[in-house]
Amino acid sequence: MLVTLKKIIDELGENQAVPAFNVYGYEDTKVVLDVASSLGAPAVLMTNRDAVMHMGSRNLCNLLKSIGEDYDIPICIHLDHAKSMEEIEEAVKSGYTSVMYDGSNLPLNENIENTSRIVQFAKKYNVSVEGEIGSVGYSDPNIKIQGKYTDVEEAKIFYDETKVDILAVAVGTLHRMTGQEAVINYELLNDIEKKLDVPLVIHGSTGVKNKDLIQLAKTTVKKVNIGTAVRMTFGKSLKSQFNTEEFDRIKLFEKPMKDIEGVILEKYKLLGFKKTSY
Ligand code: G3H
Ligand code: ZN
Repeated sequence: MLVTLKKIIDELGENQAVPAFNVYGYEDTKVVLDVASSLGAPAVLMTNRDAVMHMGSRNLCNLLKSIGEDYDIPICIHLDHAKSMEEIEEAVKSGYTSVMYDGSNLPLNENIENTSRIVQFAKKYNVSVEGEIGSVGYSDPNIKIQGKYTDVEEAKIFYDETKVDILAVAVGTLHRMTGQEAVINYELLNDIEKKLDVPLVIHGSTGVKNKDLIQLAKTTVKKVNIGTAVRMTFGKSLKSQFNTEEFDRIKLFEKPMKDIEGVILEKYKLLGFKKTSY
């Protein structure tokens, strides 16, 4: 059933954080839902700016909603890294149950002002809102988004003013890392946790080491965003078949779907979801 991100977060067990996966279509969505369902776990399906530019949020939402109807688990459809009210309005009206407004590169007062407007709007539709304070940068040098550690005092002001449901913080990760090499600043994370009573999100979690995923699930981090790890596995697996005569996309997608299943299952397990029937 379709639920808000807040509901999923509120119902997590002890030492659990929900992995939120960037998905792009039928294949990756189905695998995330199959794995989640086998674990009796919730699923957070996130669509990022690339996916929205490619398909449009209405099409994406309809597709994900429809695939989700076959599963008896809590499913959240989340708009990732939206930068404007227009994008958020379209997503909310299409049926997304959660949105992220990313004002992380704006001055604090503008980030607060825009995020607050979005919280007011989303509330009317019972849609959860994620904000970001500090900025998780990009390991890809072509993307000119400056990373900046979260400042604890700013985070406190931001949360008190906006009352977002969940807050993304920058504590050492970068988006699009291809290796698990991020160094988590636990001292900073700890200071944020002491000062703020709000569940936290870690972006760029492909770069997070396995031992840190286990550790983070024991903190107030409740959502862990993963994109590159799945995309990279899918793409490499697809490319590995290009010397075959096969041209049928359904056949070509079989191996990538099998391969991403392992990645997705591993992240769930590291974040505290026990294997049941899988
Ligand atoms: O918002 C999306 C995530 O932060 C994904 O980051 O692609 O580095 O895993 P990643
Ligand atoms: Zn992100």
